[in-house]
Amino acid sequence: MKVIVTDNYEQLSARAAEIIEDQVNMNSGSVIGLATGGTPLGTYKHLIKGFQERSVDYSKVTTFNLDEYVGLEEDHPQSYHQFMEQNLFNHVNINHTRTYIPNGNAESLEEECLLYEQLIEEIGPPDLQLLGIGENGHIGFNEPGSSFQGFTHIEQLDESTREANARFFNSKEEVPLEAITMGIGSILKSKAILLLASGEHKAKAISQLLKGETDEQFPASALLDHPNVTLVVDRAAYQLV
Ligand code: GLP
Repeated sequence: MKVIVTDNYEQLSARAAEIIEDQVNMNSGSVIGLATGGTPLGTYKHLIKGFQERSVDYSKVTTFNLDEYVGLEEDHPQSYHQFMEQNLFNHVNINHTRTYIPNGNAESLEEECLLYEQLIEEIGPPDLQLLGIGENGHIGFNEPGSSFQGFTHIEQLDESTREANARFFNSKEEVPLEAITMGIGSILKSKAILLLASGEHKAKAISQLLKGETDEQFPASALLDHPNVTLVVDRAAYQLV
């Protein structure tokens, strides 16, 4: 795993955006895996700036998002569909027919999972997958104990994850109980992975990851077996290493 330590969140965001832009500039038809949560927000701001100031071209790019809550309408302010529209898609020249996000309201969620995995196989896998990390080591919404071979599936969210994400809702009770997420096996199909971690609250997870032990109770450790992972981490998140 290649590790890049930055002084702060701003530098982390700029570095991450640079890596994504390099991929898109190298291959205008790139498939990019995208993530939600607080961490990639700065990266998306930089990508928007790059589009406005340097005309980085997203017109042929395809994107796959990692996950979506089950049961939130697409236009719910906290759905990941809305997150992506507001924080990236509405501000760059991406073709909306090529932005894939799991449908957490599908009539048959099982079918939706199979379909999503099939799309990843047919159109993907991503050339570059952007990832955040949960305080408990989750990636996407793969909670501790998830199989490292798992494909897109429905996941019951941990109480700690619902608590961590409650800040985006009016209360923890409003945070959905389930999500549809790419599995760890789906994520590992990506050709390259860009993992971001920022802030003191991620320091424990990062030190655990960099211990280098693979453990299904710590989902991010699956990345240790992937040949092309770059971790961009700020000093605050790196302080326990
Ligand atoms: C969320 C998302 C993950 C994200 C993680 C960390 O629940 N499903 O994709 O990486 O938790 O979020 P944050 O970046 O806000 O700390």
